[in-house]
Amino acid sequence: MSEAHNIIPDWEPTPNNLESFWMGFTPNRAFKRRPRLIARAKDMHYYAVDGRPIIDGSAGLWCSNAGHCRSKIVEAIQAQAAELDFAPTFQFGHPKVFELASRLTMLAPGDINYAFFSNSGSEAADSALKIALAYHNVKGQASRTRLIGRERGYHGVNFGGISVGGISPNRKLFGALLAGVDHLPHTYNRAEQAYSRGEPEWGGHLADELERMVALHDASTIACVIVEPMAGSTGVLAPPKGYLKRLREICDKHGILLIFDEVITGFGRLGSAFAAERYGVVPDMITFAKGITSGAVPLGGVLVRDHIYEAFMNGPDHAIELFHGYTYTGHPIAAAAALATLEVYREEGLFERAASLEDTWADAIHSLKGEPNVVDIRTIGLVGAIDLEPIEGAPGKRGYEAMETGFHDHDIMVRITADTIALSPPLIISEDQIGEIVDKVRKVLHQVA
Ligand SMILES: Cc1ncc(COP(=O)(O)O)c(C=O)c1O
Repeated sequence: MSEAHNIIPDWEPTPNNLESFWMGFTPNRAFKRRPRLIARAKDMHYYAVDGRPIIDGSAGLWCSNAGHCRSKIVEAIQAQAAELDFAPTFQFGHPKVFELASRLTMLAPGDINYAFFSNSGSEAADSALKIALAYHNVKGQASRTRLIGRERGYHGVNFGGISVGGISPNRKLFGALLAGVDHLPHTYNRAEQAYSRGEPEWGGHLADELERMVALHDASTIACVIVEPMAGSTGVLAPPKGYLKRLREICDKHGILLIFDEVITGFGRLGSAFAAERYGVVPDMITFAKGITSGAVPLGGVLVRDHIYEAFMNGPDHAIELFHGYTYTGHPIAAAAALATLEVYREEGLFERAASLEDTWADAIHSLKGEPNVVDIRTIGLVGAIDLEPIEGAPGKRGYEAMETGFHDHDIMVRITADTIALSPPLIISEDQIGEIVDKVRKVLHQVA
């Protein structure tokens, strides 16, 4: 044995010991008592460690839009790992990240012609917020520092993201967060919107709350507004009709940057490359992650309009324009995975497929109305949410049981937020598989009643 081996401590890891991994966003003790372990995946299915196929009702974590272990993506990753494992993108570059940036900007609407890369949606959100602040600085408006998010919004878990985010448990244990943040009201009202398909009729006027904030804080202090076009993690809230257009108008009127966080809605989830296209609204920045590689390799980023990039292109030629970036920004393996994923989306017409399945999907999910404890259902694109009546005194327990029962007894993976079941299958789903998912969820609802 060489000397180098001696520095490895002499211990035997226990392969089946689940204790050491501290799982995020998971009740660790409950999971470790009855784990849901996945061994492999292909197309629409996961396979549990006991070999059972589990139909993927959630595209993993809203990310595997092209399905799992697609050969084109797998081969691109393998080839890239063998050819160029890492190259810095500070002061150097490699061809694939440039190709990816130009392909992405071709997919994005309007004059969104530049791409900045991160490794996750959280980093994408924080990058966009930093770019917004820096933009106003370089434009000579340094007083514009206020960031406006929305109640029930989710922009990842970094400090910027949780500050503008509006999900209380994600914020409350983490101190004062960023100063100078305000939140628009969320757009959900069950009395007005229950069982909506697509964009609810009621609620467009809530965008006018931004005018109230401008009146309170003054536009000269506001840097940006960040919203998810469809709020995903909070339990699927489609934007009310007219809401996003109105936000755009108010932002334009007051020189406020508008950021769409499209980490979930990007790459076909709502039937177009980006939700911005579906809604005919060009934000100043779009954040993305997840579906860009169909989840195969971590990658995220921010797409920006010309005027933002151009505002930074000043000063001496040798001087750095933006003091921000990550070691793994534009990692070659992530870039290769993303290019292959975009090819799969294009060759198989998966964004169009999501659009063409929207009605079938909505009919199927809404057929669960009237099942035990169902109090609301919402659908949009290839996304659905089923709100369950909470068990008295134990909020979140019925949702947790639904997810657990789904995996162990009905061979389906669903995502839950408290007592809401969220469904967002890979875009390769067949009509039969839509039926299968709904049958399984129906059985789950009866079991947890
Ligand atoms: C809208 C949105 N933004 C940001 C994030 C954070 O992404 P990540 O978990 O990759 O950091 C998510 C994750 O679900 C998201 O839904």
